[in-house]
Amino acid sequence: MALIAVLPGDGIGPEVTAEAVRVLDALDLDLTFAHAPAGGAAYLAAAHPLPPETLALAQRADAVLFGAVGAPEYDGLERELRPEQAILGLRKRLKLFANLRPVRLFPGLEDASALKPDIARAIDLLIVRELTGDIYFGEHSRGRTPDGLRYGRDVMQYDEAEIARIARIAFAAAAGRRGQLLSVDKANVLETSAVWREVVNEVRRDFPGVQLTHMYVDNAAMQLVRDPGQFDVIVCGNLFGDILSDQASMCAGSIGMLPSAALDEDGKGLFEPIHGSAPDIAGQGKANPCAAILSAAMLLRHSLRLPEPADRIEAAVAAAIAGGARTADLGGTCSTQAMGDAVLAAL
Ligand code: IPM
Ligand code: MG
Repeated sequence: MALIAVLPGDGIGPEVTAEAVRVLDALDLDLTFAHAPAGGAAYLAAAHPLPPETLALAQRADAVLFGAVGAPEYDGLERELRPEQAILGLRKRLKLFANLRPVRLFPGLEDASALKPDIARAIDLLIVRELTGDIYFGEHSRGRTPDGLRYGRDVMQYDEAEIARIARIAFAAAAGRRGQLLSVDKANVLETSAVWREVVNEVRRDFPGVQLTHMYVDNAAMQLVRDPGQFDVIVCGNLFGDILSDQASMCAGSIGMLPSAALDEDGKGLFEPIHGSAPDIAGQGKANPCAAILSAAMLLRHSLRLPEPADRIEAAVAAAIAGGARTADLGGTCSTQAMGDAVLAAL
C-alpha cells in the first residue's frame, strides 16, 4: 500500500487534482489518499501557506500530488506568507532538486499550438530544471540606496555540487532517449553560468554516449519557437527552466497539457501540473485536468515504480484527445469533469 499526499492548493488546483485522483482510483492500485491544505487555502485555514501538518504529511507520504497555488488576494502579504511559499518550501524541505518537464504534442492538438502544425508536430522534448537553487533560493532583500532610492536584490548562485547532480540526471535522461543534451545558460554575461558550463562539461566525461551542446538562454528561447523538434533533453537552472517550460508548453498546444515531476536523490517526489492556479477560471469547471492526470502518471512511474499503469494513463489521455475531447484551452467545450470522464472511458 502506498500513501499519496494530495495537496490541491488554490484556484483550479482542487478541480484538476480531483480528476487526477479519480483516474488513480480507477486503477485499483491499493493507494491511500490523504488531503491537506497548501497555499492560500492553508493560509486561510492555518495562517501559513505550508502548515507543519501539511509538511509532515508530505514527508511521510510515498509521493505528493500537488495542484496549484496563488491568487491575487494574497498579493499584499509579506513574501513568507504568500501562497507560492508552499511549493517553494516543499521543494526545499523535501530536497526536490530535479524537475522533469516532458513536452510533447499529442496528435490532434496541432491546431492548438501557437506554432505552424508541421513545426509543432515535431515537439518531443524533456526539460530538466534544477529546482532548489539559483536566484530562487539566494538571498532576497530590499532597502534604500544612500540616495534614498528603493532597491531590490536577489542573489543568483550555484555551487558545483548542485550543478553536477542535476547534470547527471539530465545526461542519464538523454542516454535513455535520443542521446542529445542541450545545456542552457547565459555564460556570456553571468559568472553563475560560466561555472555551470564548466561543470556540465566535466560531467560529460561520464556519459560518452550523449552528445552535449550549449546554448545561451535567449537563443534557446528563439530556437524553441523556430524549430523545437531539434531538442531532445534540455538542462537548465531554476529561473531559465521556469521561463522556457511555460514557453515550450504553448508550442505543444496548451499549458493545460504539461505535467511535471520534482524528485529527490532517491526518486521520491512531488508531482504537479506546470500551470498555475488560473484564478480567472477557478471554480467554473473549465480547467483542463490533463496536466494533473499526466502528473499522476509520472507519480506512478517515478515514485511508485509502476510503469505499466503510468503508460495506461498516458495512452488514455492520448486516446481521449484523439477522440476529440477538448477543454476550452484546447478550443473545445468539455468541462473539467467531462474531460476526466473521457480519460476514464479510454482507460
Ligand atoms: C512553476 C511555477 C512556480 C515557479 C511558482 C508558482 C513559484 O511557476 O512551477 O513553474 O516559479 O517555480
Ligand atoms: Mg512556472
